[in-house]
Amino acid sequence: MKIKRLSGALGAEISDVDLTQALSADLVADIRAVFLDAGVIFIKNQALTSQQFLDFANKMGEPVAYPFVKGFDDFPQIIEVKKLAHERVNFGGIWHSDTTYFDSPPMGSMLLSHEVPPFGGDTLFACQYAAYEGLSDTMQRLLDGLHGVSTSAKADVSKTREDRMKSDGKATPPQSFTATHPIVRTHPETGRKALFVNVAHTAGIEGLTEAESSSLLSFLFAHQVKPEFTCRWRWEPDTLAFWDNRCTQHNPVNDYHGFQRVMHRITLRGDRPV
Ligand code: SIN
Repeated sequence: MKIKRLSGALGAEISDVDLTQALSADLVADIRAVFLDAGVIFIKNQALTSQQFLDFANKMGEPVAYPFVKGFDDFPQIIEVKKLAHERVNFGGIWHSDTTYFDSPPMGSMLLSHEVPPFGGDTLFACQYAAYEGLSDTMQRLLDGLHGVSTSAKADVSKTREDRMKSDGKATPPQSFTATHPIVRTHPETGRKALFVNVAHTAGIEGLTEAESSSLLSFLFAHQVKPEFTCRWRWEPDTLAFWDNRCTQHNPVNDYHGFQRVMHRITLRGDRPV
């Protein structure tokens, strides 16, 4: 297995691995170690069936259903993340960590690329360890005791799900969800501190007035995605990406109108942030 770092902050491309073959326990542990170190990993040339995709996901965690979009009939844990050629809005097209409006947000998510546009449609990632470590000591101390309130109902992210809820929505769409989490969480496996707010879902800070909370959150939303905390992935078909939702954010770039982009996605169960 070869490893190429993508930027100073996060991201690694792994090569010389074939996920269609049985993986030894050592190889699984090595892949996981790179994932924990890099925050997001990419493995090209993986033409996986849905069963093989699910098998790999099961080696890394516990696949769970996504709340707003139906999975495939035979693989309910796999959803299609797609933008059709005539659509203007891309699914999840805003900086976010996945579904932080749950008490136990996912530990990670995987995408397997099927169709990619001839240009554009890259995904940006941002390291939230680096974002936390890039704050002054005084700001870190202020944030350490605060809790953010996440909701699934913020308008800017809700509109990015509308096309897929129309085409692939559940028969009974779920109501909105809300959860409260520490603004600075300690990663359960690495022990490192990460900023854990995101512009898509964090709507307020407990104990602060609306004005106080919106000023502080506006600062954090801009700070946490500064270029030096990010990497950018240019997709090819049959690439598997796996990001750590506990310490990264992502943002798919919507710059490929007129072309179709299709990914398959699996979400992995997480624990309650502390
Ligand atoms: C997502 O948030 O799952 C979408 C990511 C992407 O399409 O690159």
